[in-house]
Amino acid sequence: MKQTWLLVGGALVVIGFAWMVLVGIPHTMLVRVEAPPGLEPYTESQARGRTVYIRNGCIYCHTQQVRDDAFTSDVARGWGRRPTVPADYVYDRPHLMGTMRTGPDLINVGIRLPDPEWHLIHFYDPRAVVEWSIMPPYRFLFDEVPEEEVGPDDRVVAIPGRGPDEPVVVATPDVLALVDYLRSLNRSYPLAQPAGAAEDAGIAEPGEPAEVDDRSGRTMP
Ligand code: HEC
Repeated sequence: MKQTWLLVGGALVVIGFAWMVLVGIPHTMLVRVEAPPGLEPYTESQARGRTVYIRNGCIYCHTQQVRDDAFTSDVARGWGRRPTVPADYVYDRPHLMGTMRTGPDLINVGIRLPDPEWHLIHFYDPRAVVEWSIMPPYRFLFDEVPEEEVGPDDRVVAIPGRGPDEPVVVATPDVLALVDYLRSLNRSYPLAQPAGAAEDAGIAEPGEPAEVDDRSGRTMP
């Protein structure tokens, strides 16, 4: 081969171009994204809940992103009041946007489902609250203890349909942190955008409250 340099040079140009388009340009666009005033950093408990979320593979069935109205019905389904923007994720490392939607999107689940008791029952037995649910139960995030051994600080969960002779279900610190994290998921604060900037940045204006919904029957309040 006589013109090896041409081959090597060509390969470098292709790789360099791909790097620029896929890494360099996006980096310069996103590097200065600042936290919106309405977004709080995670508390210690919420951050712990986030690691429980990661450890248990929730991302394999749940996304955390409301996509633009122009392409999808995410807002109409009740998954958010507006599409999410890069600033919504400034505290998320690693981000958990996900790609699979076997279950509903969770980036605004804190608005939809604020009741911690609902979440605890749902993790122990999803079908106790959603009859048709195909979400797996996470019973290993609870302890089952005889009633007389329940301590004063234990969080007992009243699981529907459990008999008085059965051991009591007590939430572990991990599942309490996970619920704390889920309840913090709320990306509905207004985004500080100078007039007209939303359109320039490709950000849709907040949509009307949802009328349609996914099968869960839960919409944005
Ligand atoms: C195998 C897929 C699967 C996995 C894994 C999974 N889920 Fe789900 N999830 C679902 C499905 C399907 C639903 C809808 C039915 C229901 O509400 O139970 C759902 C519903 C939910 C809801 C209620 C959302 C709403 O708006 O109604 C929450 C909260 C939730 N999941 C959290 C989690 C968390 C946290 C984990 C990880 C510990 C997890 N899920 C793992 C499939 C899954």
